Amino acid sequence: MSYTELHFHLLPGLDDGPATITDSIELARAAADDGTGTITATPHVMDRLVTDTRSLSGRVAELNAALRSAGVPIDVLCGGELAHPMAFRLSDRELDAIAQGPRGHRWLLLEAPLRGLDASFTAAAQELRGRGFGIVIAHPERAAAAIPEQWPLIASEVAAGCGVQINVWSLAGYYGEAARTFAIRAIRSSPVAVVSSDAHGGKRPPSLRLGLRLLQGLGLSRPEWFTETAPRTLLERGLPAPASAIAA
Ligand SMILES: [Fe+2]
Repeated sequence: MSYTELHFHLLPGLDDGPATITDSIELARAAADDGTGTITATPHVMDRLVTDTRSLSGRVAELNAALRSAGVPIDVLCGGELAHPMAFRLSDRELDAIAQGPRGHRWLLLEAPLRGLDASFTAAAQELRGRGFGIVIAHPERAAAAIPEQWPLIASEVAAGCGVQINVWSLAGYYGEAARTFAIRAIRSSPVAVVSSDAHGGKRPPSLRLGLRLLQGLGLSRPEWFTETAPRTLLERGLPAPASAIAA
């Protein structure tokens, strides 16, 4: 079994990820060398970067073709890292273009703001749930490290059914001890948790092999769950539909 990335900036020329298709191919090659077989490409979907999510599937197809030509054994899926204000701007179809999972179990990667969460994040999460999308919160440990008092807000979102995506570099201590502590807490306490590289190339390379080693160091009984099984399961089975969507 190979690793599966659910948070990875791989598409060229769109955000703060690789600048060119050559850079994207080299970043994907580094991921393959790290042991990864599938990457969900998650460009920043926010007002100053990607706003037309329906343009992304064509770019993913182009990149997959380029990877085949270059002999890089990586499958790229179409996703996005949704900034919470966009929850109120995008249509259901535009959101669905970056969602994962089968019909009735679709979910979105919702970015936890690095400056911390506030009521607008909660409102966005409620908006997405109300429209039938499950949510995986991207790097909540970094938001909690910014404002530790907000951890209960993240915990309440997890209680409402959100999954969490933890960054390898948080586990490694790259963002400081607070982020590392919250990362470990989220992994131990969340029913749905995955670990991803949030790679951008440059200073933040693919790192799931390192992530697995760090998880092994925590004494978890099935560390590969977070780098292989859980991300693969989220792609194939999705998240359960929010209760509000079932009732609607
Ligand atoms: Fe990211």
